[in-house]
Amino acid sequence: MRYLTFALAKGRLAKKSMALFEKIGITCEEMNEPGTRKLIFTNEELGFRFFLSKPSDVPTYVEYGVADIGVVGKDTLLEENRNLYEVLDLGYGACRMCVCGPESARELLKRNEIIRVASKYPNIAQNYFRNKKNQSVEVIKLNGSVELAPIVGLSDVIVDIVETGSTLRENGLTVLETVCDLSARIVVNQVSLKMEHARIRQFLTDVAAALQSENESESESQ
Ligand code: PRP
Repeated sequence: MRYLTFALAKGRLAKKSMALFEKIGITCEEMNEPGTRKLIFTNEELGFRFFLSKPSDVPTYVEYGVADIGVVGKDTLLEENRNLYEVLDLGYGACRMCVCGPESARELLKRNEIIRVASKYPNIAQNYFRNKKNQSVEVIKLNGSVELAPIVGLSDVIVDIVETGSTLRENGLTVLETVCDLSARIVVNQVSLKMEHARIRQFLTDVAAALQSENESESESQ
């Protein structure tokens, strides 16, 4: 049997996804070995293989077909804009992509002037201002701790992920506009969906059922 290969975004998302997959009988013992630095794991019995990759590379592995299925945040999908099928919203990892800055920048956003926008997501930022707001902006790509940029005067605003809002609060910044909602998604390679249709369909049906029963037991306990 050919392996069904998954590319998982390393870190919290991969852990959460494997916990969900365990509920539908997809396990991977060797991934649980403490302190392991391995990047490829297999379950020979089930014919499953898992890659752990940098989140921004998951869509690339799936587009090129070296992974059949990927689990990755919607932020990465929007930024990378790869050719693949987004087939399921897992709901977890929920947060928002927002335009943020000091309260004083709120006025600036209304004036349709060229402003500087810092972001780890230059494509999402450019696309939002150009296509949704019809505004020309200068986008400056940063690699993290983006909240620094408007504080030290590198940019007027940032486009970044807001989850609890505490990074913004602790740095005297606020949400000025919401770009879109985000969460973890399952994506599938376009050829794999045809070639491995039965196995992938079954997997997606099982995951959707497991998610539903998780949601039901959560709402019962509330
Ligand atoms: C993310 C994001 C924000 C923060 C939002 O950064 O870029 O900075 O989390 O979370 P909050 O609303 O709960 O405070 P991450 O921790 O991934 O690090 P980074 O700044 O280096 O990208």
